[in-house]
Amino acid sequence: MDYGLKNRISRMIRPSTGRSVMLACDHGYFMGPTRRLENPRTTIAPLVPYSDVVSVTRGVLRASVDPEWDVPILLRVSGGTSILQDDLSNEGITTSMKEAVRLNATAVSISIFVGAPNEKETLLNLGRLVDEGEEYGMPVMAITAVGKELEKRDDRYLSLACRVAAELGARMVKTYYCEGFSRVVDGCPVPVVVAGGPKLDTEADVFRLVRSAIEEGAVGVDMGRNIWQNDHPVAVIKAIDAIVHEGATEKEAMGLFLESKAKTQELASPAAGRPQRSRR
Ligand code: R5P
Repeated sequence: MDYGLKNRISRMIRPSTGRSVMLACDHGYFMGPTRRLENPRTTIAPLVPYSDVVSVTRGVLRASVDPEWDVPILLRVSGGTSILQDDLSNEGITTSMKEAVRLNATAVSISIFVGAPNEKETLLNLGRLVDEGEEYGMPVMAITAVGKELEKRDDRYLSLACRVAAELGARMVKTYYCEGFSRVVDGCPVPVVVAGGPKLDTEADVFRLVRSAIEEGAVGVDMGRNIWQNDHPVAVIKAIDAIVHEGATEKEAMGLFLESKAKTQELASPAAGRPQRSRR
């Protein structure tokens, strides 16, 4: 693997643990001002110090992420449809590789919709993006999107979608956790991270999902709503970090969450300072 590609991947997946906590904030590209991501800067700023990577579109990157913040960017480059459409699979590439390089992205991400009406187009988009990514040393993450059909998220479907993504050249895959998740990971020859999906009922559910995903082979999470839709997002991400990077159990994570929730006054404003990652 070339230096550029290798170096970028090592900025995404922490070499000391082989794992990553990615903060997903790219929902607006088809969902609009998602609850608690209405003002992306306000949501993202307090979480940057605890994120290995932040996932955003170029619009949010320019408007809401300070260039001085020391955090690698996973740039979402697919889109072209919105939740007003029944079929969300009608996506194309919205951002060029040249632009990704200009924005100093560490990796780019694209959704694929296996089994959906526009399956072929999204898979060919992935292939083209990988061709360009390899040329520039830019890792491509494929996201196994299911649109509005959340019930699709079982191990048979996700194994198929992840494997297809890897075969077409994705350097990383983001998918959902499911029962039988280890089979999904076993069939996918590149690192897998899990999304959180819609907000779960309790923090315990979130920590269980993360712990199970890690135990079953995920290298980390690329998670959004279950972090920033929580009333205590910093406490949640710290607990997730402990599971992902330190092997904390669900119980230990809950202890950390409660401790941090009690102690920490959540920062509500980016005016509080310039976020710096503290742990690399
Ligand atoms: C969808 O918009 C993106 O792929 C998200 O980055 C992904 O779903 C992760 O976010 P969440 O944990 O909120 O599902």
